[in-house]
Amino acid sequence: MSHAAEPRPLSTFRANSLKGRVRVPGDKSISHRALMFGALATGTTRITGLLEGEDVVNTARAVTALGARAAKEGDAWVVRGCGVGGLAQPSAAIDFGNSGTGTRLMMGVIAGQPITVAMTGDASLSKRPMRRVLNPLKEMGLEVVEDRETLPLTLKGSNALIPIVYELPVPSAQVKSAILLAGLHAAGETTVIEREPTRDHTERMLRFFGADIRTAVQDGKLHITVKGNAELKGRDVVVPGDPSSAAFLVCAAVLVPGSEIIVEGVLVNETRTGLYTTLNEMGADVTFLNQREENGEPIADIRARYSRLNGVEVPPERAPSMIDEYPVLAAVAALATGDTVMQGLAELRVKESDRLLATAAGLHANGVRATVEGDTLIVHGDGGPVPGGGTVATHLDHRIAMAFLTMGLASEQPVTVDDTAMIATSFPEFIPLMQGLGASYRSA
Ligand code: S3P
Repeated sequence: MSHAAEPRPLSTFRANSLKGRVRVPGDKSISHRALMFGALATGTTRITGLLEGEDVVNTARAVTALGARAAKEGDAWVVRGCGVGGLAQPSAAIDFGNSGTGTRLMMGVIAGQPITVAMTGDASLSKRPMRRVLNPLKEMGLEVVEDRETLPLTLKGSNALIPIVYELPVPSAQVKSAILLAGLHAAGETTVIEREPTRDHTERMLRFFGADIRTAVQDGKLHITVKGNAELKGRDVVVPGDPSSAAFLVCAAVLVPGSEIIVEGVLVNETRTGLYTTLNEMGADVTFLNQREENGEPIADIRARYSRLNGVEVPPERAPSMIDEYPVLAAVAALATGDTVMQGLAELRVKESDRLLATAAGLHANGVRATVEGDTLIVHGDGGPVPGGGTVATHLDHRIAMAFLTMGLASEQPVTVDDTAMIATSFPEFIPLMQGLGASYRSA
């Protein structure tokens, strides 16, 4: 679903304090995967807690267009799977909206079906690099009609994929997952080699659906191997709360004096918790309570209290575990005492927007000193509320919008974002949830 052109600007004000116990919607990465793996399984997959954001709804429509009906029945989303290699030719182009994850993982799925699929997306998605996924998939046997770097693209899959061994040139769970999904369909074993670990939900969930998948460390690199001609069985999946959505609430509580909140049932898989480690290093009172395991994933209730923060150095090797959280970390760093140095951010340039530039520009517009040096972002915090008073260009990027609406809760003057419509891609309940905790907003 692509957005209408009408932008929805919004301003935030300094909040008094944020208080309450809340839940955030289901994890976006796990939601996409549950729908796709359900489509590739035999039998029925029932998903509770699925994120009903636009990105995931587009994936539900995509699997339905490919013959695996995904629909809400009562509280659960139910997918009637077609089996590995059993998806059908769609009757029209499939629109992936704003979602890189939906698009790239689905490329791996399509690679293994003898069908031709036209894929489209919105203005942001149509600028994002696809060769990183298409190159390995072409080695396996995918045909790309009119080979281009970006959407729109038409892919011709095959029921005779060749297994490969592929070392990731960029630390990307999307690329890893696309290759593993294609590997399910190949005749033999497909191995992806990672130098830096990225989120491992594909590996965990494929195993849960019955795939033969194993990991081994060799020469300091992670080798992930999946057996082809796989059979997946439909499962019941419970999607935990999204730590990347919880991040905005937790950061808001840390920034606003007098705040204390608890976000219940959040995924705390260590391939996703780099932000929380960094907040603790800055001196934030953020704690994982009641840690437990559900569906093979670790979960906790996260308590966050207002804290005085110091600037820190965030090492480059931490980037994959907090790649979506740098904009909100930069917003937090603006109120810390001293410099926060965030290194190794090359991948931020190819997200829903160039997040390195969009973040720095949003800080500058609101009187915060920040510098970009190569792939490093340095935020110079003064230890107090930021001046605010500026308008942030969000470039169709939900996380830029939410990061600056968070910073505005602790600024002298209101912070305005030029468009909030994209927040619905990942966190449709963001504004009412924040209002419930005590935040206030005004249409700009
Ligand atoms: C995702 C992986 C990350 C992340 C995205 C979700 C996933 O992208 O930014 O929001 O679900 O696999 P990359 O794999 O491109 O780093």
